[in-house]
Amino acid sequence: MNLHPVVIAFFDEPTNTFSYIVKDPESEACAVVDSVMEIDYASGRTDLSGADKIIEYIRDNGWRLEWIIETHVHADHLSAAPYIQEKLGGKLGIGDQITLVQETFAKVFNEGTDFARDGSQFDRLFADGDTYTIGSMTAFALHTPGHTPACMTHVIGDASFVGDTLFMPDGGTARADFPGGDAKTLYRSIGRVLSLPDDMRLFMCHDYLPNGRPAAWETTVGDERAANIHVREGIGEQEFVSMRQARDATLGMPKLILPSLQVNMRAGHLPPPEDNGQVFLKVPLNTLS
Ligand SMILES: [Fe+2]
Repeated sequence: MNLHPVVIAFFDEPTNTFSYIVKDPESEACAVVDSVMEIDYASGRTDLSGADKIIEYIRDNGWRLEWIIETHVHADHLSAAPYIQEKLGGKLGIGDQITLVQETFAKVFNEGTDFARDGSQFDRLFADGDTYTIGSMTAFALHTPGHTPACMTHVIGDASFVGDTLFMPDGGTARADFPGGDAKTLYRSIGRVLSLPDDMRLFMCHDYLPNGRPAAWETTVGDERAANIHVREGIGEQEFVSMRQARDATLGMPKLILPSLQVNMRAGHLPPPEDNGQVFLKVPLNTLS
C-alpha cells in the first residue's frame, strides 16, 4: 500500500468503458488495462482512434509499455490489445479461466479446430495470486469470478483494477447471468475485493452515469463498503443473490456481445479472413437469450 502508481483513465463513451494506463512512479514502465476498439456494428466498421490516444499518451511521455491486461473477456466492447501491442510491445495477459470462456463460445460460434481453446493467443495466463512486475512495481492478480469465470482483479500497490466485479457505489454491481456467471460467486469475489484495505483505490471498468451524474471511475474499498447500493456492509449473500438474479432477468443482451466475444476470445484478434481476403463476424441466430 506504500506504492502509489500513477493512473490515467480514458473513457470510451459509446460503450461506457474505462481504459487505464498505470505507471510505475519509480521508472518509465507502464501497463494498459482494458483497451477498446470501437465498432459501428451497423456498418461493420472498426475504429482505433481511442486506442491511438492511449498509444500517443505513452509515446509522448516516453514511457515503456510492459503489460497489456484484460480484466476479463468483455462482452460489451472489443479489445484493442493486439493493435496496442503491435505499436508499443508489451505482454498480453488475462485470467487462466479464459479457457472455459473459449470452450463455451467456440461452440456458440461453431469454431473449427484452428481456434485454440487453451489461451495460447495470450502471452500470460494468470492464476489466482500470481504476481508480475511493471518496472519496480509488483502487481498481483486476484481471481474474482461471478460476472464471468475468467474475471481477475489486478492489485498494484494502492490501486486495484476491478474489471466488472463492482461499479461505483451508486452503480452497484455487474450482471452475473452470462454463461459461466453466477451471482453467489460474484458476491464472494466482491467480498475478496472489499477485504482489501479501506483506502485501497478501486478503478472501475464501466460507469453508466446513474441518475445522470457525470462519468466517475475511481472510488475506494471504504466507500464501496459504506455505500454500494448492492453490496454495502450489512447486505448478505442471499439478499444480494435474489436482487442480482431478479435484475439480470430483466436485462437484454449487450448490444455488442456477438462481435465482442468473437474478437475478445481471440485476445482481440479478428477471425481469419475468408478466401476472398475479407474478415467476417458471425451472427448465430436464436442462440443467446
Ligand atoms: Fe464485462
